[in-house]
Amino acid sequence: MTDSPPRRYIGGTYKDLVRLRRTMPNRKPLTGPKGASGDKNWARYRELFPRYFWSEETRLASIIVADAKGSMVRDTSGKTYIDLTSQWATNNLGNVPPEVLDVTVKALGRYGFLTYFMTPHLPMIELAERLLKHRPSANLSRVFLELSGTGAVEGAVKHAVEASKRPLILSFLGQYHGLSIGTSLIGSLSAHERRYWEAWGGGALHAPYPFPYRRPSGMSEGEYGDWVLNYIEDQILGRQAEPDRIAGVILEPIACEAGIWIPPASFVRGLAKLCGTHDWFFIDDEVETGLGRTGKMWAIEHFGVAPDLMAIGKGISGGMMPIAAVMGTEEVMGEAMVAAGTTFAGHPAACAAASKTLEIMERDRIPQRSARLGAVALKRMKEWERLPNVGEVRGLGLCLGIELVHDKRSKRAYAELGRRIFFDCVKNGTIPLWNYGDHVVRIEPPLTIEREELDAGLDAVEAALRRV
Ligand SMILES: Cc1ncc(COP(=O)(O)O)c(C=O)c1O
Repeated sequence: MTDSPPRRYIGGTYKDLVRLRRTMPNRKPLTGPKGASGDKNWARYRELFPRYFWSEETRLASIIVADAKGSMVRDTSGKTYIDLTSQWATNNLGNVPPEVLDVTVKALGRYGFLTYFMTPHLPMIELAERLLKHRPSANLSRVFLELSGTGAVEGAVKHAVEASKRPLILSFLGQYHGLSIGTSLIGSLSAHERRYWEAWGGGALHAPYPFPYRRPSGMSEGEYGDWVLNYIEDQILGRQAEPDRIAGVILEPIACEAGIWIPPASFVRGLAKLCGTHDWFFIDDEVETGLGRTGKMWAIEHFGVAPDLMAIGKGISGGMMPIAAVMGTEEVMGEAMVAAGTTFAGHPAACAAASKTLEIMERDRIPQRSARLGAVALKRMKEWERLPNVGEVRGLGLCLGIELVHDKRSKRAYAELGRRIFFDCVKNGTIPLWNYGDHVVRIEPPLTIEREELDAGLDAVEAALRRV
């Protein structure tokens, strides 16, 4: 093992984890492939799931979970899986981080639920202080609390529109911001997700996101970024909306859901400059990339740009309670009486969980760990580019993607291969991050994953790549 262990690992050492797995409640002996005959829970699930739920996506991995801990998930047959998804990039500290669980339970006992609109409480103040301590740039001085990443993005956009009194938001094709009516139209991950709602998105303009691997041949990455900036000036500002009608730009600093796309740094900086020129607010969507995922606390730090608004969600409370936040400047959040939020935003126990999570992130140098482990993983995964259907492997920190193509010349996306790899991995006890229709298989494990677990998970992905 070349990677030195972290100063303090949330779930203990790998051996501790193995021991812990043995002591998980109701442990049954491993029974081999999931769904083994005789598993009553599995039979019940197979019968009842289609009766009560409708979405294919909610049963992607086709297992039924009995319990989960750290980077491991166990199904009702007793089979364990390495979780390379951290539950869609949420359990950045692993599942059930004990210290976060502890403060959450204590806060629940002390406060129960208080609605922050009417009866504010100390945990929300403490969380605001912690968040601002970790802000990526000193211009951010205010905090708004929400419940989900979707809510945080909507809150950020509402603040930008109301503070600027301009109706439009500029976004990028392929970005994902959530599935509410607003966010699915501000984003544009897939036409399918926007189906029936296309006409509701009048406030959002879209420019191409610079996907470097798919840039036109003959162009450098920097030139491709410049091409997109020129597109904004010529095609959007020239033909669709004058600059003073646009409130701001929303950017995923790494477009995760579209396939872990890292834009050219010159593009992000050029975009920030354009924001300065036209008085646009720069909205940074860090819901998936934040909290150490990309090897820095916030992905925008890779680009040296100061956002005016930043949406945060997912990993903020160690997976213990739903909570999300927006950090913003005085200009955009100080004055406007924005009608945004929701009853449960800023739940006291969620605030306490989030403060503890941020404390652990700093104390245990979790972003640095993500950078270190991610570099080791990327080095190994880059070797896979020699395989005929791996077009590119890319990533920052533990935010990694494998782009699958029919052939390297045409770069035609190969989603069916993604599906086969995903199910092969699940069968063999590893869950990579993949969604129906994706031709990019992602590796976004807990940032606390032990090196041995990560290696074993990557072994399974590699074996699947070679086998299917
Ligand atoms: C970049 C980004 N923004 C917003 C969201 C929406 O977050 P939530 O699912 O918590 O509403 C997501 C979720 O994946 C995301 O990746």
